[in-house]
Amino acid sequence: MIPRLKPALGLAELAAALSLPRADDLERFEKAFARLMGQRHAIAVPYGRTGLALLLEALGLRNREVICPAYTCVVVPHAVVTSGNRPVFVDCEPGGFNMDLDLAEEAIGPHTGAVIATSIFGYPVDLDRLAELRQRHPQVAIIQDCAHSFAACWRERPVPREGVAAIFGLNVSKLITSIFGGMVTTDHDGLAAKLRQLSRRRLTPASRSKALRRLAYLLSTYLTFTDPIYGLVNRLERSGLLDRFVKYYDPALIDMPEDYLEGMAGVEARVGLAQIGKYHRIIAHRRKVASFYHETLQGLEGLHLPPLVPGATYSHYVPLAEDRPRLLEAMLSRGIQLGMIIEYSIPHLPAYRHSRALLRGHSLRYARTAVNLPVHWGIDQSRRERIVAELHALLKRKR
Ligand SMILES: Cc1ncc(COP(=O)(O)O)c(C=O)c1O
Repeated sequence: MIPRLKPALGLAELAAALSLPRADDLERFEKAFARLMGQRHAIAVPYGRTGLALLLEALGLRNREVICPAYTCVVVPHAVVTSGNRPVFVDCEPGGFNMDLDLAEEAIGPHTGAVIATSIFGYPVDLDRLAELRQRHPQVAIIQDCAHSFAACWRERPVPREGVAAIFGLNVSKLITSIFGGMVTTDHDGLAAKLRQLSRRRLTPASRSKALRRLAYLLSTYLTFTDPIYGLVNRLERSGLLDRFVKYYDPALIDMPEDYLEGMAGVEARVGLAQIGKYHRIIAHRRKVASFYHETLQGLEGLHLPPLVPGATYSHYVPLAEDRPRLLEAMLSRGIQLGMIIEYSIPHLPAYRHSRALLRGHSLRYARTAVNLPVHWGIDQSRRERIVAELHALLKRKR
C-alpha cells in the first residue's frame, strides 16, 4: 500500500538514535536548526504547542485575545488556552488555505495580543499583506506558525523571520522530524533569553524513560512504514483499535499531552540533527511531486487542484474532492491511501463553539472536501504515475 505520509527516515537517523548520548545533543540541534532557518536563536521544546504556550508567556501575554486560523491544527488553540489566553478564529482567504489577513485585521481589537500567521500545508503566508497589518497594529505580536511550512518563502523572503518568533512541530508527519519535539526560532536576543529562562523554569529535563519511549517509538515507526505491515496497521486504524495511539484530539476537549512540559530528549535531538542534512532534498522532492500532480491531474471532474505557489514547501498537496468519502474508499481499494488533512473547522468543534470567530464558510468547506495526495519521500516516479493513473481511471475528464 502507498501510505499518505511517510517520514524520510533512513540509516543516518537510526545510527544517530543509537549513538551514545552527548551532553550537547540539544544545543547542536538548536544551532543547526537556527542556521537552517537563517535565524539567530532556536530553542528546542517537547512539542510545537509547548513552544507556542511558552512563547505567549515570554511575550507577557495573559488574558488576551490571540487571533488564530479557523483552519489549522486544533492543538494550536489548545496551546493558546493553556497559556491563559483566548483564541479568536478567522476564516481562510478566498481561494487559499491560509488565514484571510483582511479578516484577521478586522478581528483586531483592544484585547488582541498576538496574531498567529500560519503557512498551512507549506503555502507561504502573504508577507506583504502581513507587513501592512504589522505597520497599522505595531502593538500586536506576529507569531509565525511554520509547523507545516518550515523555510517556505514569500517572494524569496523566508517566512519564519517575519514576526517576533516562529514555532515548528517536529513529529513524524512533518517535513523533517525529531520523533516528537518542536522548536521556537527568533532573531530577538531578549526574547530568546526569556524563552530559555522560561524553559528552564517550566520544563523538566527529559527522563531516561522518555528517551527510551521515544527510541521505541522511532523503531516502531520504521516498522510501521514497511510495506506489508503498513496495510495491516491501516486496517487496525480503520477498525478503531488504534485510536488510543493515533487520535490526537477529542472534539469536545481542550487539553495538552501529559508530557508537554518534559523537555526534548537527546535521542530526538540527534535524529533531528540527522534530518537537517536532508532538508533541502526533501523540499525539492516535494516540489517535484506537487508539480507532477499539478500537470497531470488537470481537468478531472469533481477534483479541484490547489495552486502551485513559488516558495511553497508542500507539507501536503491538497485538492478538494466533491465526493471525498467515495474517492478515499476507491483509492484505498486500489492500494493508495489518501489523507483527510484537517477534517474540521476549529470554531465548529464543541470545544470551541463559544469562541469569537469571523467566518465566511471556507474553513468548513475545506474541512469537508480536502484530501491530501502523498508527496513524501517514498513517492518515486512509478508510484506517482500509478496514483495519477488511478485517479484518471476513477474520475471522468471534464468536457
Ligand atoms: C499547523 C500546526 N501548528 C502547530 C502544530 C503543533 O505541533 P506539535 O504537534 O508538535 O505540538 C501542529 C501540529 O502538528 C500543526 O499542524
